[in-house]
Amino acid sequence: MSKTIISFGVIGCGLMGKEFASAAARWCHLTDVDFEPRIVAVCDANPAATQWFQDNVPTVEQAYTDYKELLANPKVEAIYCAVPHNLHKQIYIDIIRAGKHLLGEKPFGIDRSANEEIMAAIRDNPQVVVRSSSEFPFYPGAQQIVQWVNEGKFGQIIEVEAGFWHSSDLDPNKPINWKRRIATNGEYGCMGDLGLHVLHLPLRFGWKPESVRALLSKIVEERPDGKGGSAPCETWDNAILACEVKSDKGQFPMVLSTKRIAPGHANTWFIRIQGTELSAEFTTKNPKQVASLPYKPGGQQAWHIVDAPYNSAYGTITGGIFEFGFTDSILQMWAAFCDEVVHGEQGISQPFRCATPEEAAGSHCLFTAALESGRTGGTAVVDWGTLA
Ligand SMILES: NC(=O)c1ccc[n+]([C@@H]2O[C@H](COP(=O)([O-])OP(=O)(O)OC[C@H]3O[C@@H](n4cnc5c(N)ncnc54)[C@H](O)[C@@H]3O)[C@@H](O)[C@H]2O)c1
Repeated sequence: MSKTIISFGVIGCGLMGKEFASAAARWCHLTDVDFEPRIVAVCDANPAATQWFQDNVPTVEQAYTDYKELLANPKVEAIYCAVPHNLHKQIYIDIIRAGKHLLGEKPFGIDRSANEEIMAAIRDNPQVVVRSSSEFPFYPGAQQIVQWVNEGKFGQIIEVEAGFWHSSDLDPNKPINWKRRIATNGEYGCMGDLGLHVLHLPLRFGWKPESVRALLSKIVEERPDGKGGSAPCETWDNAILACEVKSDKGQFPMVLSTKRIAPGHANTWFIRIQGTELSAEFTTKNPKQVASLPYKPGGQQAWHIVDAPYNSAYGTITGGIFEFGFTDSILQMWAAFCDEVVHGEQGISQPFRCATPEEAAGSHCLFTAALESGRTGGTAVVDWGTLA
């Protein structure tokens, strides 16, 4: 099959920039796709970060330290941008105005006003495809839950719980990084960092919280600064958001949690939905398994746990009995983005799109209300603004 090549630039060559390079390098894993990303240019303020790309990605022709030079490269059609949150506003706006398609990292701006400026640039440039990174819903187990929601299998929703839990900051001796500083990660702290991962599916399902009571925790007060001293940790480590959702089928509670300090959890993303006709759960802790409990009035209440087959949104060479993992979810997300760049929103070959800018903007509405709730100790109404 002949493939349309999309020439990519990468801005921010850290942890996530390399994940994209790895996904692009194993594009042959995907079957029946008529598009392929090719990384031709990279940019990082730190030249040592771009060196890894020059050493490992043979298609890279140019390496820059100034992203504006990368934007001026006419060969670059699309960009993956994975930089600290304080840089999202200016760099994303410049990318969009340069007419390059963008897969940006969440949260799409350090705070709500930065996000609103990014959204205005998107509105002014409708020819550019802009999506936010959020890979976990591409796990086959999560896709199964998406299908059940779309088919209305749950009946009336009783309760929803979703979360993303890490424990990498449990060690108080871990040196401070940009995620613990308000200037670089924003006041949202762990919500900005982890929150869209948790909200992507609820927002896709139309479950917009009307109000939120937030419990925000700072657990480790200071960390080594890497220069022999210590530095204060300014951002929230953990957040538990008790939300009230009103949908056309009634009202239900939804508890969303984002935790940097959850002992025993390395990268646990989960969603649990309880309904009057079906309950279901998927967690990356058990990446093969989907649990479900169908219910008929007066009938048995028995959990069924199945090994979900490797049945991904985009077909792959992997046999159905094998396991799906984090890097597979990244590859699937990239396939969905490239599919939209080449075929447009209507022409995409499977129904699950990458997180949209509106979904990222929705996360800002909720997190802004959560900060207010954290300050007052009361319940805050979520102002959905133009997304209402
Ligand atoms: N999707 C996910 O699962 C996931 C996981 C981790 C992080 N993220 C997101 O990715 C983004 C980056 O996080 P990360 O963990 O990769 O961070 P990182 O610190 O590993 O990498 C960020 C890179 O940006 C570079 N940079 C800083 N200023 C720059 C500038 N002006 N121009 C060009 N490059 C610049 C840094 O030198 C660094 O190499 C954040 O938005 C974060 O929320 C997403």
